[in-house]
Amino acid sequence: MTEPTTSAQQHRTSTVIAIDGPAGAGKSTVGRAVAAELGVGYLDTGAMYRAVTHAVLRRGVDPYHEADVAEVAATIDLDVYDEDGRTQVMVDGESATVEIRGREVTGAVSAVAANSAVRAELVRRQRDWVDAHGGGVVEGRDIGSVVFPDADLKLFVTASPRVRAERRVAETGGDVDEVEASIIERDRHDSSRADSPLMEATGSRVVDTTGMSIDDVVAEITGMLR
Ligand code: DC
Repeated sequence: MTEPTTSAQQHRTSTVIAIDGPAGAGKSTVGRAVAAELGVGYLDTGAMYRAVTHAVLRRGVDPYHEADVAEVAATIDLDVYDEDGRTQVMVDGESATVEIRGREVTGAVSAVAANSAVRAELVRRQRDWVDAHGGGVVEGRDIGSVVFPDADLKLFVTASPRVRAERRVAETGGDVDEVEASIIERDRHDSSRADSPLMEATGSRVVDTTGMSIDDVVAEITGMLR
């Protein structure tokens, strides 16, 4: 019998780029652009937490009931892939691409993401995705700290809450002050949870996108890779 693998790094030979940072900092845009530049796949792990949350709500499970939520994460048939520059999500064979961005899911996702059994299950699926794709750009909150601590490049992409709120309002509308307040609240929740809080991983390079264009950010990151 072979020994169980404790880390995906033990048998990984291909390039992994970890991108972490708070909501709305531009991680997805940057991650996709870097993946395209390198010709590798891109995985949006936030969409996975959102997909589990969607299934939890659909099945009528209380997002704070740890065991029931863990059961959903363990049994869900989940497919997350990129198409036309957008993360597509299939949950139990049905598209949830639109629903996972809705208000209901956004309101409940922090509770689901604080569930340790959910995190363990999704981390396992993220490592499997990297193995199956031979590396890639993986984006989230704990990628450089927990999922791929030995990633070839670890980035912590951030921007001021005000700028993040302004960008979000430019995309989806809304009131900048309100969006800024909800961004600050979600940061607080994500940074203070006990399991895998949002933080700068050891060895990560901080990219502050406040006042920078996406092109400049991508140029800076691809420069780091050369
Ligand atoms: O990036 P996003 O807004 O789609 O993430 C949704 C939620 O999932 C957010 O509350 C942070 C959480 N998350 C996480 O805890 N770990 C990850 N690797 C990715 C997202």
